[in-house]
Amino acid sequence: MDLNPMSPRIWKEIHAHMATAGAQHIIQQVLIHPEHKPGMPLPIRASAQGRRYDEEEIRRELDNAMNILFIEFMGRGRFDDYIASAAQQKERFPSQVLWQIFDCLFRGVCGMAYPEAFRNRGLDFFKDDIPQTRETSINMPDCRFYPGSWEASIVHYDIDTVNVLIGDFDKTEHNIVPLIKIADLGLATPFYLGIPWDKMWARRKVGKSSIYPPEATSHEWDYHEIHPSWLRCMTGGNYGYWTNLYQIALIMWQLITLCRLEMPPQPVPWTVEREDGTLQAVWTYGERVLDAAYNDIDVELRELVAMCMCDNPEHRPTLEVIEGYLDKFAKTSGPEDPEEQAAQDWARRIFGGPPPPQPSMSMAGLAFI
Ligand SMILES: Nc1ncnc2c1ncn2[C@@H]1O[C@H](COP(=O)(O)OP(=O)(O)O)[C@@H](O)[C@H]1O
Ligand SMILES: [Mg+2]
Repeated sequence: MDLNPMSPRIWKEIHAHMATAGAQHIIQQVLIHPEHKPGMPLPIRASAQGRRYDEEEIRRELDNAMNILFIEFMGRGRFDDYIASAAQQKERFPSQVLWQIFDCLFRGVCGMAYPEAFRNRGLDFFKDDIPQTRETSINMPDCRFYPGSWEASIVHYDIDTVNVLIGDFDKTEHNIVPLIKIADLGLATPFYLGIPWDKMWARRKVGKSSIYPPEATSHEWDYHEIHPSWLRCMTGGNYGYWTNLYQIALIMWQLITLCRLEMPPQPVPWTVEREDGTLQAVWTYGERVLDAAYNDIDVELRELVAMCMCDNPEHRPTLEVIEGYLDKFAKTSGPEDPEEQAAQDWARRIFGGPPPPQPSMSMAGLAFI
């Protein structure tokens, strides 16, 4: 809720939730009075003036308010707690578990890359419960356009382990690892290259400095004051879905190494073998995961992480390429597979624990006027 009405901020967050409504791996708004189903005529409503508000009216007004937002409850809390406890117990995340976590985070990135794509257009964000859809990059418009993009993908700016929340296990895609969602859309905004100069420069300082992407720290910003897009910078100021990709890869990097990225981060040169067999020289911040110390983890996953952490966003893989990897490696084959069973046991031990508390469905705190 906006506690300072003189400087309202939540409406921006609500806009980001509107754009990502229906995206299963992004925290969703919940309505406290979902009433209208698509196709239903609007009821004639009495004027609120001169009459007592009833509970239904209050709930409806809260759903429509632009200074308050209700979001779904994620019973297992923040991801950073689990990483800290795994690190403390010297528990390494197994490959199968890492692929499943990457799958959830990747789908969250898709949810922001294609705004409005996962909501049935007939449904009203303020009135209807919106079913959650598993996000994909397949058959989506091409949102990769260099240098810079005019497509207004949402850039989150603050995807770190405290803004990733853990939900429940289910019997389908989240049976090994519980549903994981990207949360806290407080800084999330669509990024247009055409944004004014001062706003563009302000972008550079958005989010936590410990997870700044190369787009923010690049030397390309230095020694000039003009809009970075006029310089056709490859990295500096070139925000897009690839920025979110860098930040989720940084989370994966932490899960693999159980370390924090050094500050300031140091990119190192690396030669990547592309899908077509060609070699490409790149600079990446994620090279450490390629170290032999992590050979117990699938090399494909580690290379993908290092690729997503390339300094130049153009060297990071496209969403389609990543989804191809996930189709191959993050698919579950069933409880008969001993490796999958071991991963499931591991994840139940780490993420399991006592059943999460359930939110009260009664509006206990709602005062009547
Ligand atoms: N949907 C949720 N379910 C469970 N806990 C949540 C949820 N949203 C936020 N939290 C908790 O509240 C904290 C702050 O929320 P967040 O949205 O990240 O706000 P801030 O902008 O203050 O960082 C989170 O780190 C988490 O511990
Ligand atoms: Mg937060």
